[in-house]
Amino acid sequence: MRTDTPQAVNLADYRPFPFAIETTRLVFDLHPTRTRVSAELSVRRTGGKNEPLVLNGERLKLVSIAIDGRPLAAGEYGVDAERLTIAEAPDAFVLTTEVEIDPSSNKALMGLYMSGGRFCTQCEAEGFRTITYFPDRPDVLSRYSVRIEADGKFPHLLSNGNPVASGSLDGGRHFAEWSDPFPKPSYLFALVAGDLDVLADKFITMSGREVALRVFVDPGQASRAAYALDSLKRAMKWDEEAFGREYDLDLFMIVAVRDFNFGAMENKGLNIFNSSLLLADPQTATDLDYERIEAVVAHEYFHNWTGNRITCRDWFQLCLKEGFTVFRDQGLSADMRGAAVQRIKDVRALRARQFAEDAGPLAHPVRPSSYLKIDNFYTATIYEKGAEIIRMLKAILGAPAFRKGCDLYFQRHDGEATTVEAFIACFAEASGRDLSGFFGWYEQAGTPSVTIETAYDAAAGALTLTLTQSTSPTPGQPDKKPLPIPIAIGLLAADGRVLRDTEIVLLDQAQMTVRWDSIPEPPVLSALRGFSAPVNLSTDARPSDRYVLFGSDTDLFNRWEAGQTLARDLILTRAAGAPDEVGEERYADALGRALVDDAAEPAFKALLLALPSEPDLALMFEAADPAALHAARDHLRTRIAVHLGDLLRRLHGEMQINGEFSSDAAAAGRRALRNACAEALSADPHAENLARLLGHFGAARNMTDMIGGLYPMVAMGGVPREKALESFHHAWRTEPLVLDKWFAVQGRDPNPDALERVIALTQHPDFEPTNPNRLRALVSTFANFNPARFHDPSGAGYAFLADEILKVDAFNPMTAARLVEPLGGWRRYKPELGDLMRAQLERIVAHPNLSKNVLELASKALG
Ligand code: PHE
Ligand code: ZN
Repeated sequence: MRTDTPQAVNLADYRPFPFAIETTRLVFDLHPTRTRVSAELSVRRTGGKNEPLVLNGERLKLVSIAIDGRPLAAGEYGVDAERLTIAEAPDAFVLTTEVEIDPSSNKALMGLYMSGGRFCTQCEAEGFRTITYFPDRPDVLSRYSVRIEADGKFPHLLSNGNPVASGSLDGGRHFAEWSDPFPKPSYLFALVAGDLDVLADKFITMSGREVALRVFVDPGQASRAAYALDSLKRAMKWDEEAFGREYDLDLFMIVAVRDFNFGAMENKGLNIFNSSLLLADPQTATDLDYERIEAVVAHEYFHNWTGNRITCRDWFQLCLKEGFTVFRDQGLSADMRGAAVQRIKDVRALRARQFAEDAGPLAHPVRPSSYLKIDNFYTATIYEKGAEIIRMLKAILGAPAFRKGCDLYFQRHDGEATTVEAFIACFAEASGRDLSGFFGWYEQAGTPSVTIETAYDAAAGALTLTLTQSTSPTPGQPDKKPLPIPIAIGLLAADGRVLRDTEIVLLDQAQMTVRWDSIPEPPVLSALRGFSAPVNLSTDARPSDRYVLFGSDTDLFNRWEAGQTLARDLILTRAAGAPDEVGEERYADALGRALVDDAAEPAFKALLLALPSEPDLALMFEAADPAALHAARDHLRTRIAVHLGDLLRRLHGEMQINGEFSSDAAAAGRRALRNACAEALSADPHAENLARLLGHFGAARNMTDMIGGLYPMVAMGGVPREKALESFHHAWRTEPLVLDKWFAVQGRDPNPDALERVIALTQHPDFEPTNPNRLRALVSTFANFNPARFHDPSGAGYAFLADEILKVDAFNPMTAARLVEPLGGWRRYKPELGDLMRAQLERIVAHPNLSKNVLELASKALG
């Protein structure tokens, strides 16, 4: 038994920090194994007379400490593994500390560490405390000035804010000084030092100020940063137009690093990116990479207002910056790439990640009230559901009142660390609406279920809708209350004509009825248009109604949704042992008609052609049997490939683009449809299709086509798989980002020997477990996206994942913890499997020296 039960942090215990840190002066003497950091904090008491000064600090070697220049005697302060305490601090003073740290041994990638021979930092959420002693909490805002000294081998010395001085020092060393005029919390501090190439540009803001833009990358990679730089300029412009937000410093920098736990980080004026979300060219990046780069560059830039200028009072308010900022980046993507297609992709991701989380033991409210490790709360719920809440707020208030609320928030809370309550209060005030019920969305976990029943009275020409909602219990929340749910509803006639335009019905009770008059004929209900709320909807629609929507709904989201629902029901029916052959034919026919609709964009058709994923299907199942789902889904794939073979081959040919590569949405849509056709045809691998697929892979001139061809080769197994993997590896062995794709495609390998091969790949010379991208490419892809092989009846897939979690936890707890989730759903699987999953969670929890990160998630998953 472990004796050191970790302490939970509770929202209810929030107390302001009893001191203000007005200015923070940091001097870094950089050295790979012995870096010296001296900090000069100007401290002023704001709380009670007897309050001690307690600073966070971990893994620091304290070299010296002084108050107002006077070194402290041993009895005047205390240091333990987590903090430095000065029991009797003056009311106003300057505290100077000097510490030594070892960046090169830091494989947790939090704090100051080395990546590719360069120094870089990651401080959110609690990494700053491994750099120096400081109140490492988001509500302590300070003005920073930074001096960096380093060997000439590290030519670029970067930190937040504006550069103020630089020059050379003795012994081949040099220095740079930076000053950030905007007070910020410690989690937004950043430093980078090393040999980098830079791509430079500028942006003129709406008030006419010139901002210098710089993207720093590995030497030789500058041309691959062009798309990110262009995305940045589009994001800056968009934020001015959509939200009236202008950039505030004279310089904006982005740096790409290969070793990074997350996607990217919004440090003030110096964003640091995982290189996978920054570098792109047609040869090495897929359209999906381009799409994500555009979104993440915007996301981090948007944080400058939603996160940096206005930050979080405490980490329970994380959704205040993350949910709002995801909402903002989704808005940009919709404007750049088409609203309907973007919405479908966002909802697909929401359901795959957030709905799964909300349905399992790790379910938590968008604003949680307790945690062990805040690192574990960078979840789909905080981010994606957080964004959905803002989207509903906009739907309920209407765009003008929503914008007024945003303006009020930016004006009232600029320069503050604030709360979700204060944010919502701005919208209530700007709109004059009572939003107290709406706040429940932040406090209540779980995905609401909504049902809509319709009754049509032909004689009266009236339609009555009965809407109900309920939410199942989640851990710690047995009883749920009704939430205000905006449900966008329209009506179609049986022949597809519009009978009634979209209207938002606000369902804010457990049950309500709505009566619509002047409906001249029996209507087909199109509900939850655009996925107007993050709920599970069920209606009394018959398949024939769904075919009407699938064929002609004006709401493209619901057109897609109808197709998915039809396919899902067919797969589930077959998996349950009662196949509906006639229904499958009918579905394939309707899909064929949708694919030849000239009015629909290729990107949309590609989405229509993708069947619901296996993890999504498993969510719909009690006691899920991944093998049965896989087989049933494959059956429908084959049926489509056979039934629509000619059409799919024709489209595959027509979508081919000859000539120069363009990364724009239209070209990407054509490639997406072509790849979707290839994927579909691989389900019927006769000689003609095989030749076509081999041709697709062999002739690929960009990474999108290449990966679109590689997966079907891998899925075929045998010689095509070996040959394709070998030639791909040979071509790309020196490109880390492309090698990640090589590992990932093998993580998704649907063949029966996939688990064995994945385990063998962990011994491959190119497998680097200390690099989170490489690790996730293989291990996380396998566990999350290859259910048929992960859920091997022997339990060997689960044991493999547990082994990897324990190995990685020894040096990188944050990344290890993010691998726990696939085991968390154990209750949803059939008991033979669920028991084996649980056994691995028990094994993890019993492991000595487990990190708090993994302990928290694994024990919650056990429930
Ligand atoms: N705040 C980052 C974002 O923009 C995410 C992040 C969290 C990155 C923690 C690194 C560490 O979403
Ligand atoms: Zn963010």
